[in-house]
Amino acid sequence: MSGANPPIRIAPSLLSVDFGRMAEGLAMVERGGADLHHVDVMDGHFVPNLSIGPPVVKAVAAAAKIPLDCHLMVTDPLTYGERFAKLGAWGVTFHIEVTDDPAALAAALRAMGVRPAVAINPPTPVERLERALDHVDMVLVMSVHPGFGGQKFIPDVLAKVEALRRRYGYGGDIEMDGGVDRSTIADCARAGANVLVAGTAIYGAADPAGEVIELRRRADAARKGA
Ligand code: DX5
Ligand code: ZN
Repeated sequence: MSGANPPIRIAPSLLSVDFGRMAEGLAMVERGGADLHHVDVMDGHFVPNLSIGPPVVKAVAAAAKIPLDCHLMVTDPLTYGERFAKLGAWGVTFHIEVTDDPAALAAALRAMGVRPAVAINPPTPVERLERALDHVDMVLVMSVHPGFGGQKFIPDVLAKVEALRRRYGYGGDIEMDGGVDRSTIADCARAGANVLVAGTAIYGAADPAGEVIELRRRADAARKGA
């Protein structure tokens, strides 16, 4: 069944780039064939941390040669989603924990010209996504508690990916975010995730371009063997 899943996409997380040499970092992972730049936006309210906002995303958009996958860890994804849509974001992800009407939020984002996606935190049950699935192009399953890079992968969340593919028959993109590295990426791909975010593993590597290639190789191999 995994063979029918959408293609593997590797999405380096900007959170771990050397911000003093950001354009160089983006170019390095692009050389390795990265598919998307994963852009983590935090508001210090939905998560206990701050990251980057529109001015930096504008600079990323100007330097990037691949699409921007904006993950909004914010309590007001509609207002900020519009800002990122105007800056040329390709996808905008909101958290299911901040809305009771995911269909309306997804429709509003789609009308802004971006691909809507919904994210779910580790403690939130997969059933909470039921009213969102028909309206989004991607589900982001968090494999750490959001807010910080470099955390340990939580394997229990793989059951949510399997439920999305098997129980709900979800055929869109499933993104896994947090603690994805050489040791965890195969399990993610086997469970049915196809968009794999990695921050520390890629930007912390001696050769980020080579790491993108190696992570993709492991994900592709795991899927073929599954
Ligand atoms: C966590 C972010 C992630 C994360 C990925 O709040 O959404 O994108 O930082 O970083 P690593 O790969 O270091 O866990
Ligand atoms: Zn993220």
